[in-house]
Amino acid sequence: SGIAAVMVGKRVSSRRKWRKVVRVLEELEQVCSTSVERLRQVVDAMAVEMHAGLASEGGSKLKMLLTFIHNLPTGDEQGTYYALVLGGTNFRVVRVRLGEEKSSILKRDVDRKPIPEHLMTSTSEELFDFIASSLKEFVEREENVVEVSQVKGRELGFTFSFPVKQLSVSSGTLIKWTKGFSIPDMVGKDVSACLQQAISRRGLDMRVAALVNDTVGTLALGHYHDEDTVVAVIIGTGTNACYLERADAIIKCQGLLTTSGGMVVNMEWGNFWSSHLPRTSYDIDLDGESPNSNDQGFEKMISGMYLGDIVRRVILRMSLESDIFGPVSSKLSEPFILRTPLMSAMHEDNSPDLREVANILSDVLGICEVPLKVRKLVVNVCDVVTRRAARLAAAGIVGILKKIGRDGSGGITSGRSRGGTSIKMRRTVVAVEGGLYTSYALFREYLNEAVAEILGDDISPYVTLKVMEDGSGIGAALLAASHSAPSVDTVQ
Ligand code: GLC
Repeated sequence: SGIAAVMVGKRVSSRRKWRKVVRVLEELEQVCSTSVERLRQVVDAMAVEMHAGLASEGGSKLKMLLTFIHNLPTGDEQGTYYALVLGGTNFRVVRVRLGEEKSSILKRDVDRKPIPEHLMTSTSEELFDFIASSLKEFVEREENVVEVSQVKGRELGFTFSFPVKQLSVSSGTLIKWTKGFSIPDMVGKDVSACLQQAISRRGLDMRVAALVNDTVGTLALGHYHDEDTVVAVIIGTGTNACYLERADAIIKCQGLLTTSGGMVVNMEWGNFWSSHLPRTSYDIDLDGESPNSNDQGFEKMISGMYLGDIVRRVILRMSLESDIFGPVSSKLSEPFILRTPLMSAMHEDNSPDLREVANILSDVLGICEVPLKVRKLVVNVCDVVTRRAARLAAAGIVGILKKIGRDGSGGITSGRSRGGTSIKMRRTVVAVEGGLYTSYALFREYLNEAVAEILGDDISPYVTLKVMEDGSGIGAALLAASHSAPSVDTVQ
């Protein structure tokens, strides 16, 4: 009976521990909840901040950066153009050949390599020398020449996916680093000039014709294929959006803008903040321990660089509260050890015994032999974190639609039917790029579902989200084409 008492005692204590862990999950679910009412508050806050950021410099956490791009590619561009893409986990060099027929990309070559980690925190010269030599090798290979000096007069679009204060379409200075990059001597420097110099040092005859954000490249490719594309969103390592704004709505530079048409605005929405965002203690800790704390708050809840780390923090907390994960693994305290692709692999593990979850827990986090119900718990954690991220991104998208009067809420600029007062809805396409949306099916489903839910059945058929594969690269090449030297020279 003594033994029986011990057994009962053990069972009671293990049940108590289990309850503790479940409470951690429930608390997480509760704080992360994104009811449609809450999402609508985020929508409104986004639209309000957009107005504020357009009204004055520093008027909002949303920088609403000017791009000086007034015209997006139409499909009539022709010739061979290059692009360089820097700013995610991979660095890419791209070459596209555009045909005579409308919107025909005859050939596209890409060279993709992971960006060596030491370069992310090195000097600007080292970084740009690496970029320029990768470009040189690529040009020699693609143009089939031994000496790169044989290649003349090529134009290049440079996709630099960080906040840049644009001085013209083809130049601009870095405002600050995001996504773990930190090369202090680069801040405030002209990004294009740095690249142009490194290119010349390599003996390459190539001109940086466009300096663009990745969102802007994605918008350009979207528009090239479909002229209803007026918004672009990236959800990858980082997250951001841009859209086509009316020039007269950009109050902060009235007088400076000579055109009466529109301009693409890079929102830098990663830095969006609102008290309506569902923030947990894990977010607060993650932010506090990051090199850019108090910055990029929206990005830290949504993008690929951070989601895995939020999940790691929740598992660590569970492991500290009870021993259901065995002794607390030291790996659980290592920041960023759980990368988002692995988190999504756990989340989308369809095997009946959650094999993949068990493997990743043991291989990556050093947590071995956890029972099935604990694996299920981990899947739940991934689900809560990803669902919140996807739904917040959806609210951001609808916020932009609201700002430009395309969310059906009696928008300011919606075309009115002739003579009548009824508001005519226009078809709107949102171009999307980034691994979270393209390669993480559940994330994509949650996002699409939330956009439809916020917009409602009447409006959502007018809004289409379209994946633009390598939009940031191809789009930059297209912008180099539409801003290439001859046409620029003819503008007086
Ligand atoms: C970060 C950058 C932004 C970029 C985004 C997606 O938020 O600041 O410029 O567009 O990541 O790559």
